[in-house]
Amino acid sequence: MLRPWISTNLAVSADGKISSVARQPTGWTSREDHLRLLELRRNADALMVGRGTLESDRMTLAVPGKSIQPLRCIVSRGGQLDPDHPVFRKPGGAIHLLVTESGSQPAAVDATIHRQDLAGFLATLASEYGVNQLHCEGGGSLIRSLAELDAIDEFHLTLAGHTLFGGLMAPTATGIPADFLPNALEFEISHFDPLLASGECFLSYRRWKNPAVSQ
Ligand SMILES: NC(=O)c1ccc[n+]([C@@H]2O[C@H](COP(=O)([O-])OP(=O)(O)OC[C@H]3O[C@@H](n4cnc5c(N)ncnc54)[C@H](OP(=O)(O)O)[C@@H]3O)[C@@H](O)[C@H]2O)c1
Repeated sequence: MLRPWISTNLAVSADGKISSVARQPTGWTSREDHLRLLELRRNADALMVGRGTLESDRMTLAVPGKSIQPLRCIVSRGGQLDPDHPVFRKPGGAIHLLVTESGSQPAAVDATIHRQDLAGFLATLASEYGVNQLHCEGGGSLIRSLAELDAIDEFHLTLAGHTLFGGLMAPTATGIPADFLPNALEFEISHFDPLLASGECFLSYRRWKNPAVSQ
């Protein structure tokens, strides 16, 4: 599958949730975690989020101080976005909206619209827009779709030991707990940085494929 190298970044509570049942927006982790989020955006040619995260977190997907801004990619089935959302008002990279549902009428927003599936969109970004590194900031539903495609190369996690969200319907790193992924995906830990003062731990995992086993 032709695609960019893909990293993801999420903060999870001590009970494995990325938000509350009521979809509490970002802001519940430390300042250091926010700085790490910005740092992880730095090397990306493109940033990508699901529509749910874009809306709940009011994201602009910009990288402060970077002269060439990464593309801002939004993934949606129906493409129903608010044209007054900050992402369309604040400066940043070109906006690309993936709309996967055939027959849907996306909102009139200032973005290049792509009508294909997620795998096709990843291929388009690599082949037509020169995206070598794509960084995905969630949410759980979109990360689950990437995991189903086995399209995650590096998984950054902030384990936030200070928070328990609870709630069966609170999203996890792969969305609302549901069916298992079709296959287990193996990752190896590449970074471990506990921060006692904030009660958080920064972790990174790299996808590991056993060369002896055909995948
Ligand atoms: N703790 C963290 O680090 C972190 C990070 C990110 C998000 N969050 C939180 O997570 C919550 C949102 O989670 P979520 O799972 O609902 O968010 P999400 O994945 O950002 O958004 C879900 C929506 O994105 C679109 N989508 C996702 N995967 C798709 C696919 N494969 N094809 C087409 N469209 C796709 C759909 O949009 P349409 O409805 O338009 O079809 C879907 O309803 C928020 O509370 C946010 O604050 C936390």
